Amino acid sequence: MSSDSSSPDDIEYEFGNPFPGRILAPEAWVQTAWKRLPEGLIDWPSVYGRHAPVVIDLGCGNGRSVLAHAIRRPEANILGVDILPVVIRYATRRANQRGMGHVRFAVIGGFELLERHTPAGTVDEIHCYHPQPYYRKEEIGKRLITPDFLTLVCRALSPGGQFVIQTDHPAYWAYIQAMVPLFMEFRSHPEPWSDGLRSRRETIAKGQGLSIFRGVGTRRPDWDKAQAREQARQLPPPIFNADRRLRETDAIESGRPPQRRGRGRR
Ligand SMILES: C[S@@+](CC[C@H](N)C(=O)[O-])C[C@H]1O[C@@H](n2cnc3c(N)ncnc32)[C@H](O)[C@@H]1O
Repeated sequence: MSSDSSSPDDIEYEFGNPFPGRILAPEAWVQTAWKRLPEGLIDWPSVYGRHAPVVIDLGCGNGRSVLAHAIRRPEANILGVDILPVVIRYATRRANQRGMGHVRFAVIGGFELLERHTPAGTVDEIHCYHPQPYYRKEEIGKRLITPDFLTLVCRALSPGGQFVIQTDHPAYWAYIQAMVPLFMEFRSHPEPWSDGLRSRRETIAKGQGLSIFRGVGTRRPDWDKAQAREQARQLPPPIFNADRRLRETDAIESGRPPQRRGRGRR
């Protein structure tokens, strides 16, 4: 369908915000679900049918950010992954209906994708929007952003490749700000991205009056795998207390009795 024949029904909204791209006529739909990843390393050109820069989105949720990447970088091969099959189904339908043949989605953890399937030095951009903070104590070990994960990010990125990270969680952000610069050049990006809204969770967080924290890491040309692994071994895992009622400094100091804001007992 050409843009001349488009109608308002071509645009899909979420909380009043349009999803990037337009829904095309069914004959232009494509298949973006990647149901079976290889046992070992991915051969990107054989998956996408072309040699192109690779952009990965870890924990992509319902696909809003991946659609944004697909429009921002039509020349790239784009992969969104999440551990939840249901969100990948939503994301896949959206990309299919927009004819985004340069996008794939798979159900897999971000750590596992990088550790088992991503060839070193092959990825242009790795994005992670609002990694799950995992509030319950027994789930803290599931947090994605760890020193080992950052080592894998650096290994996957090509020289000069970028790691884009965003969260609305102050304690997670404090941890990210402390850790990421140890692995790559890092600058915070207080302003919204120039191409607009990239994340469903961002909309929800803004609606709750929460701040959004954004940053971009760049792989250093002299990155050294052995050195990074050794460094990762010595760094703390993300064991901050995710309770938003805590002051930030309390939240990032583990093992200390939490001090709550305000008066009164729990
Ligand atoms: C707070 S949501 C954010 C979703 C989306 N990026 C956004 O900004 O709207 C966190 C997402 O990460 C997914 N997730 C949690 N742990 C993950 C992991 N280890 N690897 C990949 N995805 C994960 C969850 O299923 C969920 O979809």
